Amino acid sequence: MSTDHCENPLHADYYADTSVHHSAEVIENVQVAEGTWRVRFRCPEMASKCKPGQFIMLKITDRDDPLIGRPLAVFEITPDEHGVPTDLDAVYLVKGNLTTRLVDVRAGQTLDVWGPLGNGFLPQPTRHLIMVAGGIGQTPFVTLAKEYLGLANYGRDCPQADKVTLCYGARNEGLLAGVETFEAVPGLDVRLCTDDGSLGHHGLVTDVLKQVLEDDKQAHGSNEGVRVVCCGPEPMMEAVAAVSKSWEVACQVSLETPMACGIGICFTCVTKVLQDDGSWDYKRTCVEGPVFDASKIVWH
Ligand SMILES: Cc1cc2nc3c(=O)[nH]c(=O)nc-3n(C[C@H](O)[C@H](O)[C@H](O)COP(=O)(O)OP(=O)(O)OC[C@H]3O[C@@H](n4cnc5c(N)ncnc54)[C@H](O)[C@@H]3O)c2cc1C
Ligand code: FES
Repeated sequence: MSTDHCENPLHADYYADTSVHHSAEVIENVQVAEGTWRVRFRCPEMASKCKPGQFIMLKITDRDDPLIGRPLAVFEITPDEHGVPTDLDAVYLVKGNLTTRLVDVRAGQTLDVWGPLGNGFLPQPTRHLIMVAGGIGQTPFVTLAKEYLGLANYGRDCPQADKVTLCYGARNEGLLAGVETFEAVPGLDVRLCTDDGSLGHHGLVTDVLKQVLEDDKQAHGSNEGVRVVCCGPEPMMEAVAAVSKSWEVACQVSLETPMACGIGICFTCVTKVLQDDGSWDYKRTCVEGPVFDASKIVWH
């Protein structure tokens, strides 16, 4: 049910009202890149509800450190032999309390997982969807690409795009994670780049984005119908937002703000968002995001 934001400043459309909690069996947990792992766990009810760009909170069952879960994007939704979604994949960079312990989890152990959470990417008419990822920021984009290419249905109507491109950059080749998964998506144009030139374009992902925008303009006379979606380190998202603005194309960013509860209670995850009257207000990334219109974000 939608409530007027003015009447209720704490309103958010994406509270965890329809989320579920699973004690989820781990199916596999494998290394996919330098310091980066993919964990697959069984959670049919949650898997059937997940939409591209939503996230889950995850902790290791029976471990009290960390006591609270950590947010991870849904990387893949895997169906069983009847096409019914059963498993979720998360791809995680080993960073701190949870992720250093998560690498030791084996098939058959359980994880406490709750979700799906957040707004995710809402389906919108798009001629050319350009997904721009930096570091571990590629994780929300497999399902999104499949949805816009008409290869998967996540329980909602999504207008198909004529073209979907992934521009994915990392510091070096070893840190590019899940590339084979993206390259296996039929019709997805994958453009890679690295800061050190070890794979793909030698330079920043914004260079690749500009080239894709230029090619699109040459082919179509204008960039009308282009939508950029972006996830990665904040300075990179700010740069992608600036490029999108100067090329006059729509841009949405999926923020990776640290979170504690994930369900709208603690206000750990707030980010400054511009209001219609030009002032800014704090919005909770977990229930009002993580996907925001890039032109509304106050980056500093
Ligand atoms: C919506 C969303 C989706 C995400 N998806 C992914 C994903 O798919 N893959 C992935 O690898 N990561 C993802 N992240 C980032 C991931 O949640 C963090 O890296 C997480 O902190 C890792 O947990 P950890 O316990 O291993 O590290 P932590 O022990 O949490 O430490 C990680 C770093 O963050 C700092 N930190 C942690 N919490 C806070 C806080 N509340 N305030 C300030 N600093 C803090 C720590 O000091 C440390 O430097 C996502 C984040 C969000 C919000
Ligand atoms: S993480 Fe608690 S309100 Fe967002």
